Amino acid sequence: MSLLLIENRGAVRTVTLNRPDKKNAVNEPLAAELADALATAAVDRSVKVVVLAGKGSVFCAGADVSVFLEIGRTGKGPEAFVQIHEHLRAFPKPLIAGVHGLAVGMGVTLLPHFDMVYASESARFHLPFAQLGLVVEYGSSFTLPRLIGRQRANELALRGKPISADTAAEWGLVTRVFPDAMFHEEVYGIAQDVAALPTGAIQRSKSLLQSGEQSSLGQAIERENAALEECYGSEENVKAVEAFLGRKGASRS
Ligand code: COA
Repeated sequence: MSLLLIENRGAVRTVTLNRPDKKNAVNEPLAAELADALATAAVDRSVKVVVLAGKGSVFCAGADVSVFLEIGRTGKGPEAFVQIHEHLRAFPKPLIAGVHGLAVGMGVTLLPHFDMVYASESARFHLPFAQLGLVVEYGSSFTLPRLIGRQRANELALRGKPISADTAAEWGLVTRVFPDAMFHEEVYGIAQDVAALPTGAIQRSKSLLQSGEQSSLGQAIERENAALEECYGSEENVKAVEAFLGRKGASRS
């Protein structure tokens, strides 16, 4: 049985962690499948948006703890865990996380690399690194203070108690919270909205917003201007503007 379920609905690809008996804890085979799925979706022209979900009651219970023992023994973790991070950071298309149930460890620290994060109202977010004698990972010492503020990041990482979806949304870790019963359709609807928009513009905007986090205002403006020069007069830009102008003309006639 595959450790990932991959479903395409139109241009939206949903990648679902499928190790529910182990609460979607990420072991090496699952990490390898996930890294591979991201690499494939990045270059598949039929895919415009990717949604990551988890099967069962837990979105992701973090890394399979046996991996920690292996790293302790060998001094080296499986390469696939590094690849997941690299593929997420370099992913050129909108990436959405749909978190229902519990997210633990890397199920949380990877979230800042997504473009949008939605949670079901019963979702919870937990960083038990301190309890495990470990520290934050996947760049979250950089991303979390910027995203939610250093003191909130400290409460999450140093106190090590789960926070609710509402708190996560209030803090800015989560974009929006939806009722459990409508969760999957709400997330899919947003993914579909994004997938329906001009691909080139969406990917450029994503890239600008991503790099903007780490640039000065001046660098961000320079990058925006360079991207806008590529957009003006592009096929998708001309088509969209003409459709807008034509709509006005059509409503008059
Ligand atoms: N690594 C390895 N196995 C894990 C795991 C993990 N991170 N999380 C869950 N599992 C396994 C359990 O060992 C159990 O296996 P078993 O059925 O062979 O005994 C199975 O998944 C079900 O877990 P269980 O603890 O019985 O489910 P639960 O609903 O009571 O609790 C969690 C779910 C996620 C709260 C709990 O499993 C947990 O705290 N997991 C560890 C989370 C963690 O510390 N992750 C590391 C982050 S750095």
